[in-house]
Amino acid sequence: MCGIVGFVGKKQASSILVEGLSKLEYRGYDSAGVAIIDNDHINVVKCKGRLKNLENKLSEHPLKGIVGIGHTRWATHGKPSDLNAHPHNSQDGTISVVHNGIIENYVQLREWLTSKGYKFVSETDTEVIPQLIEYFYKGDIVEAVMRAISKIKGSYAVGVICSKEPGKLVAVRKDSPLIVGLGKDEYYIASDIPAVLNHTRDIYLLNDNEFVVITKDGVKLLSEDKKEIKRDVYHVTWSANAAEKGGFDHFMMKEIHEQPKAIKDTMTSRIMPGKPITLDDIKITKEQIKNINKIYIVACGTAYHAGIVGKYVIEKLVRMPVEVDIASEFRYRNPIIDEKTLMIIISQSGETADTLAALREAKAQGARVIAITNVVGSSVSREADDVLYTWAGPEIAVASTKAYVTQLIAMYIIALFFAQHKGTISEEKMEEIKKDMLTLPIKAEEVLSNKDIIQEFAEKIYKEQDVFFLGRGLDYAVALEGSLKLKEISYIHSEAYAGGELKHGPIALIEDGTVVIVGATQGYLVEKMISNIKEVTTRGANVLAFAFEGSDEVSKAVDSVMYLPKVNDIFAPVLSVIPLQLLAYYISIKKGCDVDKPRNLAKSVTVE
Ligand code: G6P
Repeated sequence: MCGIVGFVGKKQASSILVEGLSKLEYRGYDSAGVAIIDNDHINVVKCKGRLKNLENKLSEHPLKGIVGIGHTRWATHGKPSDLNAHPHNSQDGTISVVHNGIIENYVQLREWLTSKGYKFVSETDTEVIPQLIEYFYKGDIVEAVMRAISKIKGSYAVGVICSKEPGKLVAVRKDSPLIVGLGKDEYYIASDIPAVLNHTRDIYLLNDNEFVVITKDGVKLLSEDKKEIKRDVYHVTWSANAAEKGGFDHFMMKEIHEQPKAIKDTMTSRIMPGKPITLDDIKITKEQIKNINKIYIVACGTAYHAGIVGKYVIEKLVRMPVEVDIASEFRYRNPIIDEKTLMIIISQSGETADTLAALREAKAQGARVIAITNVVGSSVSREADDVLYTWAGPEIAVASTKAYVTQLIAMYIIALFFAQHKGTISEEKMEEIKKDMLTLPIKAEEVLSNKDIIQEFAEKIYKEQDVFFLGRGLDYAVALEGSLKLKEISYIHSEAYAGGELKHGPIALIEDGTVVIVGATQGYLVEKMISNIKEVTTRGANVLAFAFEGSDEVSKAVDSVMYLPKVNDIFAPVLSVIPLQLLAYYISIKKGCDVDKPRNLAKSVTVE
């Protein structure tokens, strides 16, 4: 996830671009840059770090010109650095590009362009775009962009300028957002509406595979086959603040709704039907995988809960022993580690002090470390031997939602990757699992479309003092996360228990009206869960269960059920966590709490 902007008008572009980028910093902030055409030349200023750094650099090297593009980056391919920052130029410097998204086939395109004599200076997937456009340029930039885009697979919103056609800006989108702002004799492109709201409230919303050509005379929208498209002007009535949250009241709700896309992005180029799983930044060999005799998964908070899902999945699919530990415990308990130990570290931020310390401890004792993180270039990513990035984009709300589901996806990818190397599941089974996994984005959308049931339940129970979560197997792992979400943002006391533990203590607390949330998605454990449900309902509990569609036996046992679309049981957590996130959210709102910034909590805990 990144933010792109572009401007064509009569005013100087530089400050307009920077101001637009400042409204998109929530989409990425590890580096930023602008490219502006001055007569027949493109000048680029870009640098690592927050937008402030770019502003400082621009005050030292001001850029002149009235046509330009800008970018604020959230790294996916290549660490945050001056070189990897956008815009990226083609080899001869005549074409400059900003891009948001992921180019799936960039490795093949890079090899092909290298064979044609093109030299690359960055580690990004993006750099293939300006080079391809230069390759196809024969005097018509629109034609060249169209030809280049036809070679690209993946998701993109792209803005292009060309010094040989200095009055023009070309843009296109597929699976990444892009809008066009329509001012008076000036026009804009942007990843999101807030970037243009200080200048205009009239915009064109673009659809996939639509091209935009902007000159001082106006905006033209073109289809892939160069037919002109007519579009109604959309007049924005939201405030800038609401627009930044995509029309949602809070970042948390926006991020909950971004989960289908985050799941899809994290699988991109990794899970493909009929193709083996290949992972760019994981260099561990087949031999090394075979040598491992024990895996530790270590993390904090929500990431630790993703680790518990990882344990179940790796043990099931790879048949290797896995221990999950809280980083602050692991680092002080003198764990048994040697060179046959593999450690998987999970950290959204990649900077959590306890997690980093645990990583260092394991490495010092000879373990190999794989990191799962959302932040390219973070401490965890730099110190681990291998990295698997979650492509969730920046998460702003303190309570983690989209980072968690992408951590689950990363755990499945690692489990399947190991199973592939160890041959623990048949090729047929592997294909079946991958096929099911690829349906998760659409099924997550379906779960989100049923949120009214959750809102109604939240309204009934928001005054409760205590809530219990129960589950077995993977439902227990999700129960832990659901309980944490509720505590974090609604301040209701809640506890999660493994179903079988109910009789060993918590049942003493169940009385008339006690709220119990029960997960019952794991086929082989549903009957056992129904027994647990009966144990609490006979004592008066008010139960909300989540189960797969068609689980009649569950619906008979409880008053409220949230149905989830059917997937392989191992993927249930990706879907079942969504109602729990929503429940915590709606209760928090009803209680008037600060959803995005809950009291006493921090997004990233960099001290012990
Ligand atoms: C804090 C956050 C949690 C997060 C935990 C671990 O407590 O509030 O949402 O799960 O840190 O953070 P990490 O960045 O390492 O995943």
